[in-house]
Parts: sequence; structure tokens; C-alpha cells
Amino acid sequence: MRVAHLGLTDFRNYETAEVGFDAGPNLIVGINGQGKTNLVEALAYLSTLGSHRVSSDQALIRFGRDSAIVRARLEHGDRNVLVEVQLNRVGANRAQVNRGPIKPRELPRYVATVVFAPEDLALVRGEPSGRRRFLDELLVQKSPRFAGILSDYDRVLRQRNTLLKSARAARTPAEKLTTLDVWDERLVQLGVEIVIGRRDLIERLREPVRDAYERIAGAEHRADLSARLSILGSQPDDEASTDVLDGGAGLTPMSAAESFRASLAAQRRAELDRGITLVGPHRDDLVLTLNGLPARGYASHGESWSFALSLKLASAEVLRTDAPLGDPVLILDDVFAELDERRRASLSAAITGFEQVLITAAVENDVPQELRGTTIRIHAGRVVEPGAAE
Ligand SMILES: Nc1ncnc2c1ncn2[C@@H]1O[C@H](COP(=O)(O)OP(=O)(O)O)[C@@H](O)[C@H]1O
Ligand SMILES: [Mg+2]
Repeated sequence: MRVAHLGLTDFRNYETAEVGFDAGPNLIVGINGQGKTNLVEALAYLSTLGSHRVSSDQALIRFGRDSAIVRARLEHGDRNVLVEVQLNRVGANRAQVNRGPIKPRELPRYVATVVFAPEDLALVRGEPSGRRRFLDELLVQKSPRFAGILSDYDRVLRQRNTLLKSARAARTPAEKLTTLDVWDERLVQLGVEIVIGRRDLIERLREPVRDAYERIAGAEHRADLSARLSILGSQPDDEASTDVLDGGAGLTPMSAAESFRASLAAQRRAELDRGITLVGPHRDDLVLTLNGLPARGYASHGESWSFALSLKLASAEVLRTDAPLGDPVLILDDVFAELDERRRASLSAAITGFEQVLITAAVENDVPQELRGTTIRIHAGRVVEPGAAE
């Protein structure tokens, strides 16, 4: 798929913006702090319902305004699709496809992007939550039905935690808490779908990640990934552990559900003590290893960068082959400035075959020549050169 036109109203520092994009590479340039990232963040929002920079929508709405609108005209093959989202400071967001209302969480069915950004380094070096989000966003883009499963799981988890907290406050003995069983069963059903979905996705990513890493960093290193599953007894904080993991390769929905129920039973007292749910996909991690060692504790800065790029390239590859929308729009936000010549060249070679690439840069010369396509110039929240003509 590709985006032909993007329109913004009161999004970040834009009062309004109208931008046209071509197939192939598009370069968005401007000095820092002008709105380059804001522009691509708007498109990415449509595909992930979030931002790679902030966890809440509030910061996306222009300062002093009550709502922001992002509109995009997309081309899916020879079909045109208009999508729109309105972010509201108060009350629920709204979305439309071809001018008909849809639930905002349906938007990723129409828009696929893979964002490469300096923040990706946190995928390798940061907390498990960032890696879970990476997997879940990819899962939703690959199989849109996961949007509902993930949000249902979150809701059940919150309700179960509320129940645990009130039981703790009231000192209810564990055996009297029969309402918990009902929530447990919902948690297990939804949680198993997520655990198995992520496990399969990780399996699917392994080879493309290994290939991408070799391409970027040279063949002498082997990058690999596996799941760390709390339903199999892993705790989220053993990041420096080099234990061989059972990544859940043998799990079936049935055996996963059994392990999940057994771990909940084993943790029940601890859960009542702490008032939170201690097992389930919200406590899992994606473990990245380089030559068998966990990248989080051991990889150098350059290796961590190569790993982060590999994860994104592999995501793009998986979506291209498996996802209903085909090629995702690749968004490279300020990444070339971070890379040496060799990595710039390998990244460029890896992405040139994609249907559309949007690249932001403060310095045009940081971007390899072959990627300087249609140029959009941004200054102080205004599009001074609007890209492709309609
Ligand atoms: N909600 C908002 N309302 C108004 N301005 C904003 C908002 N969010 C960010 N900005 C402004 O946007 C600018 C940064 O834009 P950004 O796209 O990150 O720049 P860059 O061109 O360096 O990528 C800053 O000046 C920031 O103050
Ligand atoms: Mg930026």
C-alpha cells in the first residue's frame, strides 16, 4: 500500500498541512524542531493508534486546541481508500473509512507502516514493555483480529487487578474469592491467544532478523530471538540471565492454557499480597541474543543499532509477504544521521524495493543519493514545499 496524500488539522505543531507523496522514496527535510517527525508520526498513528514518542494522545493535539484530525488518501493497489481519525482531548476518538464511521481500533486494517527511529534503540536496551508493544503492533498489522483480543485482554486484566486490590484491602481469604475464577478463565482464554500469537510471530521473525543482521553488520554475528514466558515460570526481570529459555516452541493452545492456570494457582497468594496479576502475556518479554548472549546487557551501541534496524527490516519483510495490505509504508525518521556510511548503504539497499518510503532528515546529505526522491520541505509547522502534485 502507499499514502498519496496526508492532511492534518491541529496535529502537533501544524494548524493545517496538506502533503502529497509519491511511490518510492520521499524525503522530508527541514532544520530541527520544525515538524518533520510530527508529519510522519501522524501517518504512523493511523496504523498503530499510537506514537513512537509518547504513550498518550494528548501531546498529539495542538497546544490550546481540543481535537486534532489526521486524514489520509491511501492506494491499495488500484483502489483508493480515505481514512480519517479525530483525536479528542475529552471523550473518545472517532474514525472514518470512506466517510463512514468505524471504530478507531479498526484503522490498522487499512494502514500499514513500519517506523525506524532513534527511539528503536530502546527495543534492544530498554524495558520489556517496549518489546511487547513492538510484537503486538506487528501482530495487529499482520492479523487485524488481534486488535480486539489485545484490548479485551487489557480490560480483563484491569478488572482482575481491581478485584485483587479490593480483596487485599478487605483481607478476603483466597478461598472465598470465587469471582476471581471467572476472571481467571477470561484472562486465560485471551492470554493464550496472545501468547501463541506472539510465539508464532517470533518464530516467523527469526530468519529475517538473522538475515537482516548479517546484511547490516556482517556475517560473523548471529542475531536471534525467543520468547520469555511468565506462564512457563520466567520472571520479567532476569534480563542479564543467560539461561537457555523455553521459548514455548512446543506450546499448543491447550497446553498453554494448562500452564497458565497452573501458574495463576501457584501465584495466587502473591497476587493477593501485591494486588496485581503476576502471570500472563503482560509480564512476558522478547529476548534478543547476539551470538548467544542477551543483547540487552551485552551488545555495544553499534550492535544494538544493527539489531534494532534488523527487527524493523524483518517486520517489513514479514508484513510484505504475510499481511493483507502487502508492502507497509516504511518511515525512516532521522535514522541516517545516526548511522555510519556502511550501515547507511546496507539500510538503503534493504529498503529500495519497497513500494513507498518516507524519510526525514535535517541534513539532506546524510541520506544516500538514491533515496532522495520527491522532496517535502518543512519550516515552523508549515509545509513550504508540499511534495507530489495531485
Ligand atoms: N501538541 C503540540 N502543540 C504544539 N506544538 C507542538 C506539539 N507537540 C510538539 N510540538 C512542537 O513541534 C516541534 C517539534 O516537531 P518535530 O516534528 O519533532 O521536529 P523535527 O522537525 O525535528 O522532527 C517542537 O517545536 C514542539 O514544540
Ligand atoms: Mg524529528
